[in-house]
Amino acid sequence: EKDGHDWFMRKEIFEQPSAVANSLLGRRNASGRLQLDEVRLSDEELRDIDKVIVIACGTSFYAGMVAKYAIEHWCRIPVEVELASEFRYRDPILTRETLVVAISQSGETADTLQAIRHARTQRSKVLAICNSNGSTIPRESDAVIYTHAGPEIGVASTKGFLTQLVACYLLGLYLAQVKGTRYNDEIALVMDQLEQMPAHIETVLGQSERVYELAREFVGTPSVLFLGRHAGYPVALEGALKLKELAYIHAEGFAAGELKHGPIALVDDGLPIWCVVPPRGRDQLHEKMISGIQEVRARGARTICLAEEGDTAIEPYADELIRLPKVPVLLQPLVSAVPLQLFACELATLMGHDVDMPRNLAKSVTVE
Ligand code: M6R
Repeated sequence: EKDGHDWFMRKEIFEQPSAVANSLLGRRNASGRLQLDEVRLSDEELRDIDKVIVIACGTSFYAGMVAKYAIEHWCRIPVEVELASEFRYRDPILTRETLVVAISQSGETADTLQAIRHARTQRSKVLAICNSNGSTIPRESDAVIYTHAGPEIGVASTKGFLTQLVACYLLGLYLAQVKGTRYNDEIALVMDQLEQMPAHIETVLGQSERVYELAREFVGTPSVLFLGRHAGYPVALEGALKLKELAYIHAEGFAAGELKHGPIALVDDGLPIWCVVPPRGRDQLHEKMISGIQEVRARGARTICLAEEGDTAIEPYADELIRLPKVPVLLQPLVSAVPLQLFACELATLMGHDVDMPRNLAKSVTVE
């Protein structure tokens, strides 16, 4: 049942190329336009949407953070991302033109469920991004995008996360198509790039031995930090969450630009820091990330960099370097999250922990 793997989690990590491919299946019609059959909202209704609020918990929340970067860029509408448990207890401003997007792998998370009920009483439209067919959250939503990852057994979300990212991209592109904020050619190009992702994820999985080697080196480390920028920031948070929940060690993710506002004081000799390096581009993200990496390295950190193929500028600052396929910054989480999952899985295994059932955690959190 685990396909020869020791853990469901590891099996699910290695299933990600096919999970992502399934998630993308059948999303374009014969003329190449995006179609999301399960989205039961009319074009009219979607055109009127003037604000998106994403609500979720844990890893699903990090997928929501990536969604904000993508949807704002493609659709030019404001996107807020909020933890479901916080959203419920404030007095959020919701109207009929607000689209509330609830992301939940299980579809049963109590906080997320209560949050959508709250949104519906304010007559906002609710769209669920969910992996579990027929679960409560999609049943109580106006629309749903199923992620089609197949059952996720390991408590730590892996293929659930990657396919949530895909669903978020699809939603962003679909809104852009309906609202006309992007040309069809551009949408088709991103779809082509998404369709190459299963092969790219496979390439990253091909380096698993190298990541396991690093895990062996870091057994016994009391703390690990993760740095990212832009869409790489939620990936840093996700890498830290995986390590906390599986290896039970202190791990924190930061936006690299925040370092100088406090966290850099944590950096000490030998502290391992994973750095999710953005692709080189017209923006300054890459340069800024390098300067952050220089800062922590100057203070003794051991940097493990995830950087795209051909990025030679990073080499002098990377104590360890894992190569990522060359992909656009918005889509990079689909490849950069994978080594972090492998690292947490392996480190926890080496420490003798039950990777599929970490202590104190449940697969779906049905208590508030
Ligand atoms: O089923 P959901 O996506 O609603 O679950 C949300 C979180 O409980 C979940 O992502 C949790 O953080 C995972 N164990 C992380 O690996």
